Amino acid sequence: MLQISHRGQMMPPSPIRKLVPYAEAAKKKGTKVYHLNIGQPDIETPAPMLDAVRHFDFKVLEYSHSAGNESYRRKLADYYAKVGVAVHYNQIIVTTGGSEAILFGFMACLDPGDEVIIPEPFYANYNGFAVEAGVKIVPITSDIRNGFALPPTKDFEAAITPRTKAVVICNPNNPTGYLYNATEMESLKELVIKHDLYLFSDEAYREFCYTGTHTSALHLKDADEHVILMDTISKRYSACGARIGALVTRNKAVLDSVMKFAQARLSPPSFAQIAAEAAVDLPDNYFDTTKAEYESRRDLLVSRLNKMEGVFCPNPGGAFYAMAALPVDDADAFCQWLLESFSHESQTVMLAPASGFYGTSGLGKNEVRLAYVLNKTDIAKAMDCLEAALKVYPGRI
Ligand SMILES: Cc1ncc(COP(=O)(O)O)c(C=O)c1O
Repeated sequence: MLQISHRGQMMPPSPIRKLVPYAEAAKKKGTKVYHLNIGQPDIETPAPMLDAVRHFDFKVLEYSHSAGNESYRRKLADYYAKVGVAVHYNQIIVTTGGSEAILFGFMACLDPGDEVIIPEPFYANYNGFAVEAGVKIVPITSDIRNGFALPPTKDFEAAITPRTKAVVICNPNNPTGYLYNATEMESLKELVIKHDLYLFSDEAYREFCYTGTHTSALHLKDADEHVILMDTISKRYSACGARIGALVTRNKAVLDSVMKFAQARLSPPSFAQIAAEAAVDLPDNYFDTTKAEYESRRDLLVSRLNKMEGVFCPNPGGAFYAMAALPVDDADAFCQWLLESFSHESQTVMLAPASGFYGTSGLGKNEVRLAYVLNKTDIAKAMDCLEAALKVYPGRI
């Protein structure tokens, strides 16, 4: 009998999307659903990116260089210089989304059975990439009560085994919104140097820092061999469908290995590289408006949440996510109930239960992640729904 591989069976379904059938059923009943469950920004993709594709003159839609168009990589090197990261264009490999950068990084640096330490809660798709690479994620827990700050070095050290090869961070963080400060980044540097580990740094949300400034892992001195940056234009320019990311490292051996993976999949998307290249030419103040918009949404969302009885939401320093502890027995059941059994003025809200972001089972049971990717009017209405729901939810504690 034909069999699905062990890997195929182990591959986890997306915890963010598992409630989609309930949302669809709610919509069929005529209920408006506010989607705070997924990080799909509503900000328009900058017109110059779309125009660059529209007006590009070509006869054949060719493969590009496996590492991405040289013209784009050169411009990306300028972009990184602007954020204080000195890299040569040949230290950048353009990937099909940040997702492929993460996968290539894992595949190039880790063997099956190797372990990577990740502060939890973490971006749930790391589980999928770990299964693809045969790697084990060892979570160490960060705490909602201190806003999900980096756990102390001793927690990392306690988790290190002979199979530990890397630490993975996301800064600012999805799902917590926590922005690691320079001291925390330095402590990670000391740790990876002391224990000879890679430091994978996912900086998908670099531009969206509201409280404090961003320390890139590539700002860290004397850690060139250790640091692998995973990047993407998906959120930066509201261009999730472009599927353009990048792996950036000064480690030559890693670059050489990643390049072989890049060659095997031939090239990143050609059209989207044209759009991505145009994005690098956007005026320096492009992010001011977007950032201000996200920041005001954050302020609204967090203040509304903290005014609800029994709800606690630490103020996230960056990205466009917030985690909240709710007065419910089981956030998975609550999120499903919101879609299946509740409506407020024919409206409801879709949230992401936090359990799927934890590697340790049983954690995050009363927490949810909210993505503030809707305009403020809709966020306010979504908060009205949540507030009304918490008053009548049978599983309220
Ligand atoms: C932290 C983080 N890393 C990577 C990705 C994947 O990005 P991409 O759309 O470029 O594959 C996401 C997408 O939500 C993300 O939140």
